[in-house]
Amino acid sequence: MSAQKLHIGIIMDGNGRWAEARQLPRSMGHRAGIDAVKRTLNACKNLPVGWLTLYSFSTENWRRPVGEVEELMQLLRFFLRSELAEIHRQGVRLNMIGEREKLPPDIQDMMAHAIHLTEKNTGLVLTVALSYGSRQEMTEAARAVAAKVVAGQLTLAQIDEGEVMAALQTFGLPDPDLIIRTSGEQRLSNFLLWQAAYAEFYFTETLWPDFGEHDLRQAIENFQQRERRFGTRNAT
Ligand code: IPE
Ligand code: IPE
Ligand code: MG
Repeated sequence: MSAQKLHIGIIMDGNGRWAEARQLPRSMGHRAGIDAVKRTLNACKNLPVGWLTLYSFSTENWRRPVGEVEELMQLLRFFLRSELAEIHRQGVRLNMIGEREKLPPDIQDMMAHAIHLTEKNTGLVLTVALSYGSRQEMTEAARAVAAKVVAGQLTLAQIDEGEVMAALQTFGLPDPDLIIRTSGEQRLSNFLLWQAAYAEFYFTETLWPDFGEHDLRQAIENFQQRERRFGTRNAT
């Protein structure tokens, strides 16, 4: 595969349906989803992926039953505890977007530690979207830009895309080239709305717990056959 490094965003959906199909509790689907995360991370080593952004928990997911939310937080703790050393060894740089302050305090600490530990790594940039919602992110960005104006650091005329981009949590990350959503759903569910302005989309029926290297490879091969125009015309 060509060497052009891509930023891939994945909406990891279908854990519940995977479990239901096996008459297992939903929590087992989330557990199996962790294995799919590990497989996907490993697969990136052999593929042209420079940035991977995983939609792990949306702002709206807080509305799920308390037990399911707690189970998801517990899995996050487990993932960070069991995988951090390996992630670091592989040169992965961990990053997070989302409402940090809404997470349980111990998870906030674990994330801060993991991000600090891996900040000098030069391999894959793994961004975990946790309690993330694009509308909330853009609302915060609007507030931050307005605060600069109020403070006299910026005039209205100076507000441009660059100013907005700098106020988003994704500042420093390239825009996603490809957004994958599993489980057959075809929507963004509040994921990277601004950043995905020119992203390509790939939808697969595969449920997230079944996702792996084969699916990721297929998505990238499909992406590479597309023609991205960015609003211009290609010379003929
Ligand atoms: C994705 O699987 C995991 C999260 C949203 C946290 P779901 O739990 O949404 O699974 P389905 O969509 O009910 O199958
Ligand atoms: C989107 O999945 C969020 C994550 C994958 C973390 P959902 O299952 O929450 O999305 P909807 O509710 O079907 O749109
Ligand atoms: Mg879902």
